[in-house]
Amino acid sequence: MTNTVTTLTPAVTAQSPWAVETHGLTKKFGGRTAVNGVDLLVPRGCAFGYLGPNGAGKTTLIRVLLGLTHADAGTMRLLGHDVPAQRDIALARVGAIVDEPRFHQHLTGRQNLEILAAAREPAATQRIDGALDRVGILHRDNDRVSKYSMGMRQRLGVAACLLGDPHLLILDEPMNGLDPGGMVDMREMITSLVAEGRTVVLSSHLLDEIERTCDAVAIVDQGRIIRQGPITELLAGSSLEVEIECDAPERALFLLTSGPLGAKASVIDDHLLVTLAADTSRDAVAEINRILVTGDVAVYRLQENHASLEKWFLEVTSRLGDQQ
Ligand SMILES: Nc1ncnc2c1ncn2[C@@H]1O[C@H](COP(=O)(O)OP(=O)(O)O)[C@@H](O)[C@H]1O
Ligand SMILES: [Mg+2]
Repeated sequence: MTNTVTTLTPAVTAQSPWAVETHGLTKKFGGRTAVNGVDLLVPRGCAFGYLGPNGAGKTTLIRVLLGLTHADAGTMRLLGHDVPAQRDIALARVGAIVDEPRFHQHLTGRQNLEILAAAREPAATQRIDGALDRVGILHRDNDRVSKYSMGMRQRLGVAACLLGDPHLLILDEPMNGLDPGGMVDMREMITSLVAEGRTVVLSSHLLDEIERTCDAVAIVDQGRIIRQGPITELLAGSSLEVEIECDAPERALFLLTSGPLGAKASVIDDHLLVTLAADTSRDAVAEINRILVTGDVAVYRLQENHASLEKWFLEVTSRLGDQQ
């Protein structure tokens, strides 16, 4: 897999900082609202995760964006172009894999790309070698797709997207079915595509993958976006946890929760877990240590646990649960 930085073919320009912009996008299936008033803003040039559990409406949103199914309400723009009004111009620089990429199994990887390229601009055929090389399957280009592993099919899917020199790639659950090595490769591929100035939107139910791969995220549940923004900004709004090992956890719990610090704390498996607001100064950690030591508690270990996206995600969903 090569990491060469290429220059993007200029799109028919539309000035917009957003690769994807939707307002109030809604899609219903009978009485079920699969996409519910979605206001999505995906900045250009980033890896953006659309994160949510199965059935949250990720695939449906992507299908609506690509015009594979119509929206019941709302507006959308791709690369600054109104969809569906300017759909053809917009989609000319959009590459997508929805669900599993589908290919002619009895044809080779190269033959599949030749068929797809023929349906595009003439330059697409010129991009076949580069695309195969780019995703690391140039050496298997003359094997039938039926002989490809799941990971190789995913790569071929990305290669097919690259034929159109996309400014925006939309990948629906690209890590599905990949083994750990395949996931690492896919992650690197996404990162290198972003390094070239492309925007990659990927959906996933895997929190960990989104956290590793993406710069920004929208968290979706039951068709609604709960939160969105750069991961660092979202994490800044979550809490800080301090884990403490000491000789008297129950006494430590009392000292910390009854004093002026007013920390939330609990004892789990002989460890004391203290939760502080995210904007708490680090001095609070030193203060915890001081309170314990002056209270005659022997502190063996004191560790700050920074919130992972997963922890944050669980916090958000449990808060939602509280409100229901
Ligand atoms: N073609 C369809 N007809 C009826 N219901 C559908 C259809 N496609 C999706 N749904 C429903 O819409 C909801 C969202 O599905 P989907 O977008 O596939 O979620 P996700 O991709 O996040 O797993 C689910 O409740 C699903 O059953
Ligand atoms: Mg899906």
